[in-house]
Parts: sequence; structure tokens; C-alpha cells
Amino acid sequence: MENRIEQIEAEALALLSDASDVEQIKSLSVKYLGRKGLVTLFLRNISELPVDERPEAGKQANITKKRLESAFEEAAKRMEADFSDDSDAIDVSLPGRPSPQGSLHPITTITRHICSIFARMGFDIAEGPEVENDYYNFEALNIPKNHPARDMQDTFYVSENIVLRTHTSPIQVHVMEQNAPPIRIVAPGKVYRCDSDLTHTPMFHQVEGLLVDEEVSFGDLKGILESLVHQIFDENIRLRFRPSFFPFTEPSAEVDILCVMCRGKGCKVCSQTGWLEVMGCGMVHPAVFENVGYDTSIFSGFAFGMGVERLAMLKYGINDLRMFFESDLRFLRQF
Ligand code: PHE
Repeated sequence: MENRIEQIEAEALALLSDASDVEQIKSLSVKYLGRKGLVTLFLRNISELPVDERPEAGKQANITKKRLESAFEEAAKRMEADFSDDSDAIDVSLPGRPSPQGSLHPITTITRHICSIFARMGFDIAEGPEVENDYYNFEALNIPKNHPARDMQDTFYVSENIVLRTHTSPIQVHVMEQNAPPIRIVAPGKVYRCDSDLTHTPMFHQVEGLLVDEEVSFGDLKGILESLVHQIFDENIRLRFRPSFFPFTEPSAEVDILCVMCRGKGCKVCSQTGWLEVMGCGMVHPAVFENVGYDTSIFSGFAFGMGVERLAMLKYGINDLRMFFESDLRFLRQF
């Protein structure tokens, strides 16, 4: 008789494992545990067994009943979870989806590198808005309306007096308006110009520098920029300061570095000149100090602005500027 109840249980579990929906499980439950179910009938008929078999058979049948009850219940629960909407059907045993690990964009990396070099020399990091008033982008920097210097920096006008900044120099003005000297800042950021060809993109990055104190000289400027270039490239990269013009510095200079590709011999990258232009700089023009209310009889200062893409291209040996902005992972993964 014990065999009989074991048989019933085995059969019920086999049928259960084939069940493919909740309805089937319900009818199995009726078939085995219902009022006229096989297990129920077995229990009811125990009294017909020989007296000495009854206790053991009863015990067995009750165990079977319990086991089947929980097996049916569990199977039904599992089935319901599988077929209900996705949010409930979480299989906690599945391995998680790995989130792909990105890396910093080369422009970000070199910007941070430049800023950290200046931070070690005691410069703070400043920031300013990318959408600027005409006043900060031009006027306060001694570039009046109709000045030919505006031609070099044609930009995107949001409205008559609001532009996308063409350089990071307006940050100089914000910083000086809000702080008294001494000032020592570098200001990284995006800038915009109406330019688009092989070597120009309408958006690019600059790092601006400004130092204002008493008795600041052009020699201080040279020393700091030389230290920067030596740290980005190496000690053998010489610098050359060429006279130039910016309305907000006087005197002004264009900084060339020895071509990092050919070391001055002349190559395609430096157009056979042996030199590469990497930034503009100069002593802050007194008109700019006057615009922010600094006393020009006490304070002097220097400023510089460098193109980050240009430095990154030279540092990493990249020959096409546009690659920075094409979001091609085969390119970006190399950094
Ligand atoms: N703002 C200038 C440019 O974008 C660079 C510059 C900055 C020159 C500071 C002198 C001083 O061309």
C-alpha cells in the first residue's frame, strides 16, 4: 500500500513537470488533492487497510499530500511570474548586464593635464558662460564694434548683443570684475567660430590663462609657458615668441614651439618651417584693466590662450582635427 501512495506522488510530479500553464496545474491539483482526488480517496480508504498498516500508510499519505500541495503552489507561482508583464518576471539568477566602461575623451584628458600643471604653479581654475554678452566677448577686451579684429573671430549670434563666445578671454573679465588682484587663473572651455574646414571646426577648446600682480613682467610669462610646454612635451622643445597683435594685450606675441614631429628639420606638419604655432599671449592691455577698475599704475599682468585640439594632435600624433568630434569608438578607444 505504501507503494501505491508513492506511485501516486511520482505520477503527479511527472505530470506537473509537463504542465505548461496555470490551468493545467489547477486541474492536476483537483485530480490529486480535490474532494474526489486520488490522494484524498487514498486517505479516506485507509480504514479498509489491515489495522497494522494503517498508521504508516496514513503518515505517508499526509506527507505526500503536503508535498504535492506545495509543489503545485510553487509551480503555479513560477508560471504566473513568467507570464505576467516583464517588470514582475525578474530572474534574479541571471548574470547582470555589464555596463560598458568608458574612458575620458582625449580633449578632456589633455585639458585636465594642462590645468593640473598650472594648479601646481599656484593657478586656480575658473569657468565662464559659453553664451556671452557682446560686452564680455569683445567690448571689455578692447575690441569695439566695427573693429577689424572682430573679423578674425566671426561667430554665431544668438541676438544682436549675445554671442557664442569666440575665445575664453571673456573669462578674464568676469574673474577681474569679481576679484581684486593678485589673480592667477586658468580657464578651460569650449569656444565657437564660424569656421569649418580641414583644420577648423565651428566648436573647439581653449585654455585661457591670466596672472595679475605688482611688477609682472614678460619674462614671467615666458618662464611659465616654457615650463608648461616642457611638461606637456619634453625639455628639448624650444619656444619662440613672435610679435603679434591682440587688442587686449600689449605687447602681444604668438608662441611657436619647435616642431615635435621633426624637431625643427622641416616636415609636412610644420609646413617645412620647423615651428608650430600653439598659442597667443601678451601683457594685459591697460584698457582692459580700466574696464574692470584695476589701478594700472600698480598692477600689471599677462594673459595667454591656447588651442587644446592643436596641442592634443601634437601630443598624440593625430593628423585630422575632425576625428575628435566624430564619436568613432575605434579612434576614442585608443586613449
Ligand atoms: N583669445 C585669443 C584668441 O583666441 C588668444 C589670446 C588669449 C591672446 C590671451 C592673448 C592673450 O585668439
